[in-house]
Amino acid sequence: MRGSKLERYEKLVEQIRRCTKCRLHATRKNPVPGEGSLEAEVMFVGEAPGRREDELGRPFVGMAGNLLTALLREIGLSREEVYITNIVKCRPPGNRDPRDDEIAACLPYLIEQIKIIGPKILVTLGRHAGRTIYGLAGLKWPGMSKAHGAAVRATVAGVSLTIFSTYHPAAALYNKGLRTVLQEDFRRLKSLLSGEGRGRTLFDYF
Ligand code: URA
Ligand code: SF4
Repeated sequence: MRGSKLERYEKLVEQIRRCTKCRLHATRKNPVPGEGSLEAEVMFVGEAPGRREDELGRPFVGMAGNLLTALLREIGLSREEVYITNIVKCRPPGNRDPRDDEIAACLPYLIEQIKIIGPKILVTLGRHAGRTIYGLAGLKWPGMSKAHGAAVRATVAGVSLTIFSTYHPAAALYNKGLRTVLQEDFRRLKSLLSGEGRGRTLFDYF
């Protein structure tokens, strides 16, 4: 064993705090490693910290975060019992999309988080998280309209788990229709968690 789970996690957080592996370190206020339970069965992966996250060093604490917290609550989950992180740990200036080289530089941290926590379900929020996690699993990203709401058995970072993809909560902030889709997807996530979806590779489409 390479130290306890907590020791391994704390070492990782320290590495992220000191990290200068990509250009985003130069403009960040605070890196945002992630937060939640190290025993979590469900791990959420967003895109990148925004302004508020950068200020506080915590994931999903702005408007999109409030929506995520509400979506979790609707299916009976608290932020404390899941784990929440992002594909890149530092805020891209002006909230631009993270670039491929930044994602590549940061990915070892996410891989280590997945190894340490060993979630049963990896939930991807938005297309960047979706295509990156599908890529790690050796799967072709089929696009969000096909992937959302689908559960796929896969191996990611050596961990056998289910990938569940949905839209990014930020996209649903000013789009009621999309918010309904997100709520439906979260209900599917709930049934997956309670075991109803077990035994089926996919929810029946895709
Ligand atoms: N959007 C994200 O993708 N991640 C955050 O942490 C906040 C907003
Ligand atoms: Fe390091 Fe990731 Fe921050 Fe880039 S985004 S500086 S790789 S922690």
